Amino acid sequence: MLVDAYGRTIDYLRISITDRCDLRCTYCMPKGFTEFEKPSHWLSFDEIERIVRQFATMGTRRFRLTGGEPLLRKNIVELARRLKQVDGVDDLSLSTNATQLQHYAHDLRQAGLDRLNISLDSLTQYTVQKIVGFDAQEKIMAGLEAAKAANFKQIKINMVPLAGINEHEIDDMVEFCLNNGFILRLIELMPMGATAQQYDYVNLQPIIERIHQKFNLKPAEGNYGGGPARYWESQDSSFLMGYITPRSQHFCSSCNRVRLAVDGTLYMCLGQDHQYALAPLLKAHASDAELQAAIQHAIDLKPLKHEFNEKPKKMIRIMSITGG
Ligand code: 5AD
Ligand code: SF4
Repeated sequence: MLVDAYGRTIDYLRISITDRCDLRCTYCMPKGFTEFEKPSHWLSFDEIERIVRQFATMGTRRFRLTGGEPLLRKNIVELARRLKQVDGVDDLSLSTNATQLQHYAHDLRQAGLDRLNISLDSLTQYTVQKIVGFDAQEKIMAGLEAAKAANFKQIKINMVPLAGINEHEIDDMVEFCLNNGFILRLIELMPMGATAQQYDYVNLQPIIERIHQKFNLKPAEGNYGGGPARYWESQDSSFLMGYITPRSQHFCSSCNRVRLAVDGTLYMCLGQDHQYALAPLLKAHASDAELQAAIQHAIDLKPLKHEFNEKPKKMIRIMSITGG
């Protein structure tokens, strides 16, 4: 098992396979952004699989493909199939903005992908366009339909409420997820980069109270996802929703994850700079034992917590670089 300097077990690896994205969410990627990693610096599928093997050997059981938009990486289905076959990879999931999902949902499920997270901040064409910068609503909805038809073990919808933009659409999103069998998660905006820092985050605490009353929800039993979200469910347990509250109630003491960027850098925290470059070891054909020692060394660097409240302008790295 991988344990960090503060006694936290790290058993979840998120793998960004591209820092590119076909959308430009106003709180994430700046318009006209071009500082993407050069393809020659991307980890190859062999290298990604090699790192996944080391983590799996060290006790990690859950892996997620992220980006950027991971469906933009060529041969994503092949990668999913390869990773799912690695010994110890019990749970493989993917985070996507759904624009390309109609082309991939079926094949990804066949390849063994277990679960999907879909980023969806609005259900209206107007607000989607306002947030993502394009009229992507139709493609996104087609992606959701394809995802539903593909029989994943679980589909989560991630919504980031923004004051004055989509905050008033939360109740509609609850209804939508309730009617479609999706788990809804509301996420407080983290001040990552100037794009995110231009907004005040929406404090979810009063919203949580209101939603629970209106939809008659109770605290969920059981551990869903093993991550930081706290979950609530309908009285008959058919609907589940969770809250990720890095601003109003941070959960760093139970953080269980690290993130691998497309260039092979392991980032220890979304809100801190602590990082470890694995690419040089891969290029130098390090042995498995050397790689595992490096990974443990990286985990030792994991900081105690983010400082999003104390230093809201500190983090200049946007989400799409670290991987969501
Ligand atoms: N804070 C919180 N969530 C963010 N995302 C992107 N940037 C931020 C941020 N600064 C979300 C997207 C998507 C996931 C990958 O991360 O909305 O759901
Ligand atoms: Fe792309 Fe996700 Fe960033 Fe939106 S939040 S621009 S979908 S990486």
